[in-house]
Amino acid sequence: LSPFYSPELIVDWWKWSPAFLILWIPGGFRITCYYYRKAYYRSFFLHPMACSVGDQRANRIYNGEAKLPWLFQNVHRYFLYLALFILIPLWLDVLRAFNFGGKFGVGVGTLVLLVNTVLLSGYTLSCHSLRHLVGGKLDCFSCAPMGKLRHGIWERLSRANHFHMVWAWTSLFMVGFADLYVRLCSMGVWIDFKLL
Ligand code: FES
Repeated sequence: LSPFYSPELIVDWWKWSPAFLILWIPGGFRITCYYYRKAYYRSFFLHPMACSVGDQRANRIYNGEAKLPWLFQNVHRYFLYLALFILIPLWLDVLRAFNFGGKFGVGVGTLVLLVNTVLLSGYTLSCHSLRHLVGGKLDCFSCAPMGKLRHGIWERLSRANHFHMVWAWTSLFMVGFADLYVRLCSMGVWIDFKLL
């Protein structure tokens, strides 16, 4: 199953592609992502052009994210919860991709889905909001409940967060390629070669 369609939702009342029932979650997650925000504010809107550089135009477009419409960006943490949930069916799809008629096997498609899900997991788990949720808001780990455990997780998430931009781009291109690969195999254009 293409990652754009997972988990598969087939309902009578929906007349369009079932992918749209899923895509608003990763789409909203990416659009509100701190890294992508920085990229499109600076590269497309040119406002703000850098940190600490205010919008000098008379009709200020960017006023921070405390007012509409940019206030909407604060829903990112809720998209994070949904994106974490979406990882479960994606990993189940990877497990299914090792199943060749009841026997263990590995095909090119297995590797495509595996790499795609690893990259999407890296992107989701390196999210700034998750890092903040686990420990970013604490002043004192040793005073907090399960402080030692949270500190260990926070340290690992912080290391992954350092490469959030890399996770963001690699996972974006890979999920597009994984969808294309599954689609072309299902249409018989490409053959999914079995490796093991
Ligand atoms: Fe990029 Fe959360 S900050 S996914």
